[in-house]
Amino acid sequence: MTSSGRGTAVVTGAAGGLGRAIATALHDDGWSVLLTDLDATAVAAAAAPLGGWSAALDVRDEVACALIAATAASRGRLDLWVNNAGILVTGPAWEHDGRTRRRVLDVNAFGAMNGTLAALALMREQGHGHVLNVVSLAGLVAAPGETVYAASKHALLAFSLGTLSDLRMAGYRRVHVSCLCPDGIWTPMLHDRLDDPGALASFTGSMLTPQLDALPRLAVALIPVVRAAGRAGQRRQLRRTAPPDRS
Ligand SMILES: NC(=O)c1ccc[n+]([C@@H]2O[C@H](COP(=O)([O-])OP(=O)(O)OC[C@H]3O[C@@H](n4cnc5c(N)ncnc54)[C@H](O)[C@@H]3O)[C@@H](O)[C@H]2O)c1
Repeated sequence: MTSSGRGTAVVTGAAGGLGRAIATALHDDGWSVLLTDLDATAVAAAAAPLGGWSAALDVRDEVACALIAATAASRGRLDLWVNNAGILVTGPAWEHDGRTRRRVLDVNAFGAMNGTLAALALMREQGHGHVLNVVSLAGLVAAPGETVYAASKHALLAFSLGTLSDLRMAGYRRVHVSCLCPDGIWTPMLHDRLDDPGALASFTGSMLTPQLDALPRLAVALIPVVRAAGRAGQRRQLRRTAPPDRS
């Protein structure tokens, strides 16, 4: 089997929520998508209308991640790997036992590192490719009640940005690592959190949908504001740097 026109993509944690929405958007855009998840049955059902390409994958398993990358590349090449699989635990960190803290870091941070490195092994060889790491707003701020989750996402952000710099320093100009840092999204991750005081941070903004339609719409709506602010900034800078009038 060969890759479709747009290329071949792997999405982790794609049985539902955001992962499934990303896989659907890619499929609709002409990509050949390998949907993976811890839950083999659920991901097979999710993949059925999207070309039916699915596999069980626990992202904590480094060897399994490499095998999935090879499976995807068997369609020609691996163009995109989306590290989406993630878990949330809430409440003050002192309420979690060590196993729980470790599990969150294992899935959200080490799991995404496994996926990134499995993909990069092939993408560096090909000379091109893109890894998209689904972080969170909690990767940028330390959300109260979601501190262990936030710590795992901060780790992923640092790993992603540092790895991108390492790629550039090593001369890989067409291999990219990007991060997505959305606010709360109405997915199964939050469906049972409506009475959870530990999850308050996920509900402070406008709830997004898994299709993320709010982001492009918001960006487009804000274009006039951005343009006006940018133009005012240019004028300010021009005044600051203009040579003094000596006449
Ligand atoms: N929902 C939100 O508010 C929100 C906000 C920002 C970022 N995110 C991030 O988006 C990503 C997707 O979350 P979601 O909201 O769709 O959650 P979700 O719970 O609906 O989906 C997560 C998926 O990951 C899978 N998964 C869990 N552990 C796994 C493992 N070890 N290996 C492989 N798959 C595993 C689950 O089976 C599930 O299908 C996560 O990384 C999450 O941290 C979510």
